Amino acid sequence: MRMVDLIEKKRDGLELSTEEVNYFIKGYTEGSIPDYQVSAIMMAIYFNGMTERERADLTMAMVESGDQIDLSEIEGVKVDKHSTGGVGDTTTLVLGPLVAAVDVPVAKMSGRGLGHTGGTIDKLESVSGFHVEIENAEFIDLVNKNKIAVIGQSGNLTPADKKLYALRDVTATVNSIPLIASSIMSKKIAAGADAIVLDVKTGAGAFMKTLDDSRELAKAMVRIGNNVGRKTMAVISDMSQPLGFAIGNALEVKEAIDTLRGEGPKDLTELCLTLGSHMVYVSGKASSLAEARAMLENAIKDGSALEKMKQFLSSQGGDGSIVDDLSKLPQAKYIFELEAEEDGYVSEIIADQVGTAAMLLGAGRATKESEIDLAVGILLRKKIGDQVKKGESLATIHSNFEDIAQVKQKLTQSIKLSETKPETPTLIHEEIT
Ligand code: URA
Ligand code: CA
Repeated sequence: MRMVDLIEKKRDGLELSTEEVNYFIKGYTEGSIPDYQVSAIMMAIYFNGMTERERADLTMAMVESGDQIDLSEIEGVKVDKHSTGGVGDTTTLVLGPLVAAVDVPVAKMSGRGLGHTGGTIDKLESVSGFHVEIENAEFIDLVNKNKIAVIGQSGNLTPADKKLYALRDVTATVNSIPLIASSIMSKKIAAGADAIVLDVKTGAGAFMKTLDDSRELAKAMVRIGNNVGRKTMAVISDMSQPLGFAIGNALEVKEAIDTLRGEGPKDLTELCLTLGSHMVYVSGKASSLAEARAMLENAIKDGSALEKMKQFLSSQGGDGSIVDDLSKLPQAKYIFELEAEEDGYVSEIIADQVGTAAMLLGAGRATKESEIDLAVGILLRKKIGDQVKKGESLATIHSNFEDIAQVKQKLTQSIKLSETKPETPTLIHEEIT
């Protein structure tokens, strides 16, 4: 096989065979096919797309390029959730204990990552003593016993995707639906999920800004998953403003605990119940979505979801009593209010700019080496559609330094007011199965 022939085929809009897809992914991972040829085929795919079969083949070729996590010793259907990313997305911290409380196993492999706040692991490390450096065998035991455990990323998962993503980043080929969909799905499948519930964000703060693009990505991922034998479904949810109120590490842990207690923000609670219902349903623990939802609502009401969070934190070395005393979480030295400069209604909260403001406070990592400050962040006081009076707080800023002029400026630019009441954004646009 010659790579140049494959490039020519894709250039002319033809379909690659399974063997051809495997050939170029294997060759690229091993280093026998050079960047320039893969750049050319990526650009051809960018313009000509991929058939459903090619997408499934590409995904599985990337899965097979590295290690695959074996979760077969965990009893039950392992359902993973994946979000395409947003600002202050606290859903994982809520969903883990919530679905584990109704006996759906949550075997989460998670990372730290770059972003406005830390990743799930960083957030959980706001709980003193909590750690994810556990052996595989202990991880499996914990999930079988408690239904939930989190372990740090280990092994060599989807090296082909890592290499391809870095190449796409510098060749203007990131924004291709088949390439994004197979990239995301390859990572979930290599991590061992039997079933996958996707939360595809849409709006200004999301990777996909329009509903049409978000729907196309969601459908592409759902088809890949189902075509390779993993039950997959997607929810398209709003990211035109941050989800919930908290953007920050310890602040989001607090928000998650509040939500598990039934006192969380309305939007975060609703999204967790929707995603959670699909997770419970696909696991086979409920015979309908309505039954799944009732089980989760009950776990919040009777305290078992909160109890599950406590058990989960303590079983990985954390101080579970934090659940009952949130003042034990890291606290920032200074608290400032961002006051409204006039009367009106909140008409826009530009999510990625609020994220940038949180980053300026030190809540996120700009490079892999940066330290993050777990205590700091932003607590929104108002959401789109809320009425405000001049002088009322729009947001509370938790900072470990006193001069927050830059943060205030960023936040002021990102929270816009109007004279008339705007429409409130739809939280859940579509569910795709
Ligand atoms: N996120 C991914 O994991 N892969 C892509 O290609 C784009 C976003
Ligand atoms: Ca939040």
